[in-house]
Amino acid sequence: MLLTGASGGIGQAIARALSARGARLLLTGRRGDVLEELARELGAVALVADLALRADVERLAAEAVGAGVDVLVANAGLPASGEIGELEGDQIDRMLDVNLRAPIALSHRLAPMMAARGSGQMVFISSLSSQVASPASSLYSATKFGLRGFALGIRQDLRRSGVGVSLVVPGFIRDAGMYADVGMALPPGVGTRSPAEVAAAVIRAIERNPAELHVAPLSLRLGAAFGSIAPAPAALGSRLLGSDRIAARIAEAQRSQR
Ligand SMILES: NC(=O)c1ccc[n+]([C@@H]2O[C@H](COP(=O)([O-])OP(=O)(O)OC[C@H]3O[C@@H](n4cnc5c(N)ncnc54)[C@H](OP(=O)(O)O)[C@@H]3O)[C@@H](O)[C@H]2O)c1
Repeated sequence: MLLTGASGGIGQAIARALSARGARLLLTGRRGDVLEELARELGAVALVADLALRADVERLAAEAVGAGVDVLVANAGLPASGEIGELEGDQIDRMLDVNLRAPIALSHRLAPMMAARGSGQMVFISSLSSQVASPASSLYSATKFGLRGFALGIRQDLRRSGVGVSLVVPGFIRDAGMYADVGMALPPGVGTRSPAEVAAAVIRAIERNPAELHVAPLSLRLGAAFGSIAPAPAALGSRLLGSDRIAARIAEAQRSQR
């Protein structure tokens, strides 16, 4: 199995859960020290790659094809926050490359091998931002909406080949990962889920091949569904609850990751 973003908060939880199920793992990310330590702990292979670099994506894909991987878990992602006017062109390119182009390129290289074998699973870590846009995160939504469209599309194209495709859709994840790293409390009543719950959803996706699995409280899921069918009233409602202020603070805290 190939897991991207294995050095991150959610990625480490997914790696441990898959390893506990006996998976043989190729773990990838940029931070070699974190990856090597995790790989040693889990008896996995660490592959350092920067998914913003096409040559690295190609090298990673070649390694994965060479190893005959049967499952891709495309989890790596940048917060991609900030208003469009504050972002430099190269930052926008990196957000698009890491969050959207790399998972597409890896699937493109792995799908033919899986289809020829008649089995395999691709799991894309999405977000509720694949359904509803928020302030100061237009690029994040652009990549997550795009990833959702891509995954649901190839799910149909690969249906007869025996290769499954699923999206895992987290809301706010506590304890570790890009939201927890900000260290900001949410308004009362907005619930969170744990990295272990995301990992359990990944395992369920591999075993059952659902189209989408949400890892978020019902209230947030309903809010995202409302936002997808009625974006203007939903945006007004969330503005009244303080979304502009919260989003601006989160984007400021994530500025160094652009
Ligand atoms: N945390 C949440 O509340 C939440 C909610 C919804 C969806 N998600 C999604 O969950 C996934 C994992 O996020 P997380 O919360 O675990 O974030 P995280 O802790 O910041 O981890 C992000 C991972 O992506 C990797 N990555 C970033 N840029 C990369 C690049 N240029 N090349 C290769 N790898 C790169 C990082 O590798 P290095 O650290 O080694 O650079 C790290 O392993 C993301 O797709 C995110 O959009 C998270």
